[in-house]
Amino acid sequence: MLQGKCVVLGVTGGIAAYKAAELLRLLVKAGAEVHVIMTSSAQEFVAPLTFQTLSGNPVHTELFNIIQEQEIGHISLADRADLLLVAPATANLIGKVANGIADDLLTTTLMATKAKVLFAPAMNSNMWENPLYRKNQETLEAHGYHFIAPAYGELACGWQGQGKLPDPQDIFLAVQALFGKQDLAGKTFLVTAGPTREEIDPVRFLSNYSSGKMGYAIAVAASNRGARVVLVSGPVNLPEPHGVETIQVASAMEMHQAVMAEAEHADIIIKAAAVADFRPTTRGEQKIKKGSSETMMVELQRNPDILAELGENKGSRILIGFAAETEELLNNAREKLTKKNLDMIVANDVTQEGAGFDGDTNIVRFLSADGSVEELPEMSKARVAETLLDRASALLPKA
Ligand code: PMT
Repeated sequence: MLQGKCVVLGVTGGIAAYKAAELLRLLVKAGAEVHVIMTSSAQEFVAPLTFQTLSGNPVHTELFNIIQEQEIGHISLADRADLLLVAPATANLIGKVANGIADDLLTTTLMATKAKVLFAPAMNSNMWENPLYRKNQETLEAHGYHFIAPAYGELACGWQGQGKLPDPQDIFLAVQALFGKQDLAGKTFLVTAGPTREEIDPVRFLSNYSSGKMGYAIAVAASNRGARVVLVSGPVNLPEPHGVETIQVASAMEMHQAVMAEAEHADIIIKAAAVADFRPTTRGEQKIKKGSSETMMVELQRNPDILAELGENKGSRILIGFAAETEELLNNAREKLTKKNLDMIVANDVTQEGAGFDGDTNIVRFLSADGSVEELPEMSKARVAETLLDRASALLPKA
């Protein structure tokens, strides 16, 4: 897909600048012609020679470099580019572009181009949440600029939160998606993600460790491939994906209601959410006092099994579930596949390192209704999502 495409890779001054070298390698390997523009701060973190060696092209650093200007000036770069990719993109760079400032080679090229632009922001988590930053990103998104959300994790500044540059492989997938196949155009996906919260009283609830990353990755990948995507999400710490219709819910009962209301419009339903099987029979109106008792009983009652209910009225829809297991992975997953009348189930052993809850990777097996089992190695959740969509779309009736 990237063969012969001209990608201008902008690198701004952040600790993650070194990761742009790996990204550049992936782009070149995929056949792209890559020209790198570095801001002066970026050069404090990584030497231009690294990018020059990996791209096989001179690195552009200055707006008024007469020699470079004659050979391939900023306007020429802006014109030649099929994509301007900025990774890492600082809050400063994004703020400048959102406000029409062009005071160095990178911002000038960004202002002058008509090519697609993809920003991969990386910054301190407080900056990421700052309303001024948010406004700048929204302005750019409203004008058709693309963003890939930063990852969660430990940041260079010592904070824990959202702001890390995503894995180069995931940025690469986002680039591919921009040029990529729109093979899911015209299809509607209903995806669920995250945990549910079952309230005991106004301040306490039962829940689980789901971060929503797996389900969100599926929603983003399907949307990138042209599908209309409705995402029903439990409470998570992830930004609502651009271009995806997101319905926020808290409890299993709310998820049940939202999913049932959307199901009839869906061609493919993928249930990655970790839904609580039980909820407290009664919810305290006020915060429950501990009193003098050493023990406390919370009586639970069953929640509806949303997936099983969908399986009962499946119609022509493709129905895909997940199975989070701690033992007997294949047997338990197979039982769910049959009992819930699914086309496919994605089994993950959540005790395995690199699999299951919260991390950025997963290790899964696809079990199909025809009895076949496909075992995948550890992959980023974004790549698991892409592979799952390949298999899911193959199940759709041929037009
Ligand atoms: O969110 P992450 O941190 O990225 O973690 C990803 C994940 C581990 C949550 C995901 O990969 C996963 O395994 N999701 C399913 C978790 C789960 O609840 O599995 P289960 O075996 O309990 O349920 C089986 C299937 O039935 C699931 O598709 C579930 O959505 C569905 N279900 C379960 C109970 C219920 N009441 N209603 C349902 O629809």
